Amino acid sequence: MMHDTPKAADATFLLLDWYDRHHRDLPWRVSPPMTRKGVLADPYHVWLSEVMLQQTTVQAVKAYFNKFLTLWPTINDLAAAETEDVMKAWAGLGYYARARNLKKCAEAVAGEHGGRFPDSEEALKALPGIGGYTAAAVAAIAFNRRSAVLDGNVERVISRLYAIETPLPAAKPEMRARVLALTPEDRPGDFAQAMMDLGATICSPKRPACSLCPFRASCLALATADPETFPRKAEKKQKPLRLGAAFVAIDRSNAVYLQKRADTGLLGGMTEVPGTGWTARRDGETSIAAQPFAASWESCGTITHVFTHFELRLSIYRANVQRAETGLNGWWEPIASLGAQALPTVMKKAIAQAIPSAFKAERS
Ligand code: ADE
Repeated sequence: MMHDTPKAADATFLLLDWYDRHHRDLPWRVSPPMTRKGVLADPYHVWLSEVMLQQTTVQAVKAYFNKFLTLWPTINDLAAAETEDVMKAWAGLGYYARARNLKKCAEAVAGEHGGRFPDSEEALKALPGIGGYTAAAVAAIAFNRRSAVLDGNVERVISRLYAIETPLPAAKPEMRARVLALTPEDRPGDFAQAMMDLGATICSPKRPACSLCPFRASCLALATADPETFPRKAEKKQKPLRLGAAFVAIDRSNAVYLQKRADTGLLGGMTEVPGTGWTARRDGETSIAAQPFAASWESCGTITHVFTHFELRLSIYRANVQRAETGLNGWWEPIASLGAQALPTVMKKAIAQAIPSAFKAERS
């Protein structure tokens, strides 16, 4: 069989036809796709979901999205919320700067735009925390603008469809041009989401289900190479290892000593148990000498957590203490209500290492 470069109009038609039959029902979508009847998703829902979906899976986001809408049904409600409450609701999603920017963006939309999101990519990009990807996604999905939406899923699909040999990230401009060329005038939002769904369900990183793919007749990677080997990637550097210690103090009433991190920097403004700084050391574990206050600390082993730019290994210590003046600025939080605190995942891991039952009652 001859394989020409996929014809844009044909590929677009096949993809939208597939999407109409196989789209995922997700809480932030209008379902079934109603773009042709002029029904578009609520910009607040689209923006909130897109911010949450950056670096987080659809499955994990669903519950958070629903929780946010229950707590703050409109953008004006979110703008009026306490930042601390937003951080608490965000806890566990990671990348906490997103939560701060979420609140700032809500304030800007409520304060400067009368509670309505602007409807162009450029105006959206001018809002706090909205980068190129989010602006393109909201413009396409909520306002039916013809913008090129590229996330990891879309990059994989497009790199396979055209067998793009240039490795990421250098290939991005070429990928963007390819995606834009396929994006139709009439249903750009559905097209963007169709590419994402195809990447998530059919054109998966490993063992793609090519026989079910609407692009199977024209995919150049399928015809000429092993689709799984796309997208090509520049070789990754290994993440550096950092070490530190965290101290979980439990008082007689089963409360844990917590404190707030500085507002700026990694996990800024989030809640933590006391600990050492996280230093790039390879010469052994951080010792008990770094205890935040005197107690009978016992070692509970280590936990590891992978951040964007480094891997962290924390030595965990635990002590049963009498509640006393610690000389620090924290508070004692009952174990039963730890789940409602703005604890990032690394801190939940640290506490669970010291108190295995701590978060057991929570649904994952
Ligand atoms: N990932 C990021 N945005 C998405 C969306 N709108 N639908 C499905 N997956 C996504």
